[in-house]
Amino acid sequence: MTASREIHLVKRPDGMPRESDFVVREVALPELAEGQALVQNLFLSIDPATRPRLTRGQDLNAVLGGFALGRVVRSRASSLKEGDAVRAAYGYRERFVADAKHLTKVDADPELPLSVYMHVMGGAGFVAYGGLVEIGKMKSGEQVFVSTAAGSVGSIASQVAKLKGCAVIGSTGSDDKVAWLKSLGLDAVINYKKEPIRDALERATPKGIDVYFDNVGGEHLEAALRRMNSLGRIAVCGMISTYNDQQVGVRNLSAIIYGRVNIRGFVAPDFMHLYGQFSKEMTGWLKNGQIKYQETLFDGIENAPRALIALLNGENTGKMMVKLAG
Ligand SMILES: NC(=O)c1ccc[n+]([C@@H]2O[C@H](COP(=O)([O-])OP(=O)(O)OC[C@H]3O[C@@H](n4cnc5c(N)ncnc54)[C@H](OP(=O)(O)O)[C@@H]3O)[C@@H](O)[C@H]2O)c1
Repeated sequence: MTASREIHLVKRPDGMPRESDFVVREVALPELAEGQALVQNLFLSIDPATRPRLTRGQDLNAVLGGFALGRVVRSRASSLKEGDAVRAAYGYRERFVADAKHLTKVDADPELPLSVYMHVMGGAGFVAYGGLVEIGKMKSGEQVFVSTAAGSVGSIASQVAKLKGCAVIGSTGSDDKVAWLKSLGLDAVINYKKEPIRDALERATPKGIDVYFDNVGGEHLEAALRRMNSLGRIAVCGMISTYNDQQVGVRNLSAIIYGRVNIRGFVAPDFMHLYGQFSKEMTGWLKNGQIKYQETLFDGIENAPRALIALLNGENTGKMMVKLAG
């Protein structure tokens, strides 16, 4: 019998989640049926979008939903063999049995660390790239503002915008993260916890904003709307400032009228036609050091709730993950 430990939600949080809202449960895994594989997770992705689902969508006393990168340990599927790297949305667990059709084989470049396929070369990197190119219609020479610029998505969006010839203004919540973003070559970096974002953004954007890559919503979005240039684009990737049930109203949406600003949310399936181009360009940038990244790692499935809370508290730089094996 193979056992696994997994994280279950036992209480819906009110505001910031607490560790006591979750429990670790041990389960016995079923034997493999034809067409199935046993996967050992290596890296569990800790994502802000998990938080709104704790309020609505996530079942109580069931495994917490989420993505992970793992390796096939045993296979009875012709498409997978032992040792293959796979990505799957099978939740916060150490290992699991699944039909091969629910597992995405990762064709990892041997010169890159496997973990990058959970962020820069995975969903985070792809939404950063597609959000700017397809939704933001970013053009060389434009002024680009990125919020949560030191996070997993934001740090890649900031660097892609620089590589594509734009001036980049980033916002983040600590001096250490400001220093890292400056070392990446951003043109201006704001610590929004030290000064109201509205004042800081006004000073940091003398040429206005052509593209706002929004990860925060709320006051950040309101501040950006005041600075948008005519025919500017706001690509809404996320609204983390609202995820802990704090809805901050945006009071100046009328700025989109005379500014003729286009505001649009997006998800990765909106631009799958860019995937080949993204994969090729990003692999090249990573290999020649033009894209840099950081990882913040917690160890062991029992620490996954702590990692989620730390993410929401801004304790990560770059990608937050839980290392489960390897
Ligand atoms: N559309 C999509 O398909 C898609 C896919 C992936 C992610 N997303 C979204 O992209 C955004 C970033 O995700 P990520 O995975 O890269 O996370 P991340 O930026 O690596 O981590 C979250 C960061 O958000 C910041 N934050 C937390 N509370 C905040 C608040 N109240 N106001 C401002 N900043 C706050 C913190 O950084 P600071 O220290 O800078 O405050 C924290 O480190 C999220 O909104 C997420 O939902 C969307």
